[in-house]
Amino acid sequence: MSQPSTRTFRSAAWFGPTDKAGFIHRSWMKNQGLPDHLFDGRPVIGICNTWSELTPCNAHFRLLAERVKRGVYEAGGFPLEFPVMSLGEPLMRPTTMLFRNLVSMDVEESIRANPLDGVVLLVGCDKTTPALLMGAASCDLPTIVLSGGPMLNGKFRGQDIGSGTDLWKFSEDVRRGAMRVCDFIDAESCMSRSAGHCMTMGTASTMASMVEALGMSLPANAAIPAVDARRYALAHLTGHRIVEMVHEDVRMSCILTRKAFENAVRVIGAIGGSTNAVIHLLALAGRVGVDFTLDDWDRLGQDVPCLVNLMPSGQYLMEDFYYAGGLPAVIRELGGLMDRDTMTVNGTTIGSNVANAPCYNRAVIRPLDDPLTANGGLAVLRGNLCPDGAIIKPSAATPALMRHRGRAVVFEHIEDFHARIDDPGLDIDETCVMVLKHCGPKGYPGMAEVGNMPLPPKLLKKGVTDIVRISDARMSGTAFGTVVLHIAPEAAAGGTLALVRDGDMIDLDVAARRLHVDVPDAELARRRAAWTPPPLPSDRGYYRLYVDHVLQADRGADFDFLVGKSGVEVAREAH
Ligand code: FES
Repeated sequence: MSQPSTRTFRSAAWFGPTDKAGFIHRSWMKNQGLPDHLFDGRPVIGICNTWSELTPCNAHFRLLAERVKRGVYEAGGFPLEFPVMSLGEPLMRPTTMLFRNLVSMDVEESIRANPLDGVVLLVGCDKTTPALLMGAASCDLPTIVLSGGPMLNGKFRGQDIGSGTDLWKFSEDVRRGAMRVCDFIDAESCMSRSAGHCMTMGTASTMASMVEALGMSLPANAAIPAVDARRYALAHLTGHRIVEMVHEDVRMSCILTRKAFENAVRVIGAIGGSTNAVIHLLALAGRVGVDFTLDDWDRLGQDVPCLVNLMPSGQYLMEDFYYAGGLPAVIRELGGLMDRDTMTVNGTTIGSNVANAPCYNRAVIRPLDDPLTANGGLAVLRGNLCPDGAIIKPSAATPALMRHRGRAVVFEHIEDFHARIDDPGLDIDETCVMVLKHCGPKGYPGMAEVGNMPLPPKLLKKGVTDIVRISDARMSGTAFGTVVLHIAPEAAAGGTLALVRDGDMIDLDVAARRLHVDVPDAELARRRAAWTPPPLPSDRGYYRLYVDHVLQADRGADFDFLVGKSGVEVAREAH
């Protein structure tokens, strides 16, 4: 441990004075049984907790927080746990993404308003990670992240099954008559059989890996299963380390450099990570003032092979990944593809952290010269359908469809899709391109994970497993298919997507990075003149705030007024 500093910390402005305000700050806190010496100027550590029984992936976080506190006390700090709104993927309507920015505001203002010197972010289910990172980044205190860890592998009738990924498969099997509903229901408790978040390389695992690649967590944070005792040891060490970070004044902006963002993109390619990482990393970069764009994603990902053989791109699950060596083994394997000199929260470089990281299973973590797929990066498309960009995940797509021209079958909104997709009379075949509109940030609202539209039963029964699908939506990180997502501008913002009609021919060419609707400009202009924006989903409250201020996908779908950071100074006192 480094020597404690003798600095006066931010919290001393609350707990130091011997006047009336100081009395108020200390006295009411003491009703929790806190002794005098905790107010002696030691670092106060906020433990930002997204625990909720409505967020099952984070339901074990109160115990995790207790272990963080042990570490904080051990290192001479004063831990104070506080709740923020939690975002649980399975239950929330219309989509958790609608509330990511709201939670980030909750985090930001909770930190700024309170006597905190450093923060531990407890994150797990998909959006809880970016939301807490974004909010904390806007304050820029010393901050460290602890992920909750993945669930144990799903086990169903002798087979490993993965969160989400196998659900999508089972669901299609039921729709084409290849699985009984009673067997489908049986799989529920087999898929989610321990505490933790989804154990595929879905969004939660991608976010936990992103955190580690950015240098914002201790090494090995991404993959330790939620119920493994080593997750709780990591919590203890995380609590210990944040106190040191406060003494050393290691702020988030010291860690979140442009090089760190570049490393994160490389790692997300190597793990076959979720497309949702694009949105969240762009938004985080916007908060800390790092100039980082959609084109950086394409450029940095192009020569990164996918090394990690996990669903949905591969075969294994997070538990296997941890036993194989976890993210440190991947970062070590990437060698010169990453900047080894970026600093991490433990005070050493990412290269030093992984210098001796072993790999115990080459079937799970492949060597650089024998990858799972040659290109694990995400491709950024442009064209008249997406002048501000769209993305596709080649490692989850069908190679034969990466260059494709097909007739558009258009669904104007998600209800239109649900109403017609099972209709045997739907005019569609495997050469068509399914088009879904009004599911972007403003249109849904909240940019729901509906871009991986299920195929119509008439195609499933023919044995078709994938066709090209395009939308302004996102897709679950556990999903797969030749799915173009995040089209910007979205339909509800007047993007060309809004003008596409049944029968238009659409060209996709991933190698050329092109997505084009083959309709003359004059005809598009005529359609645009007749276009009217869709009605607002709600004219009041948070929905109204969201629709009025959300940026497009290429800007990370953050609020326009949240870009940049405000720091933690608050001039006025409450008393
Ligand atoms: Fe919470 Fe997947 S549902 S991580």
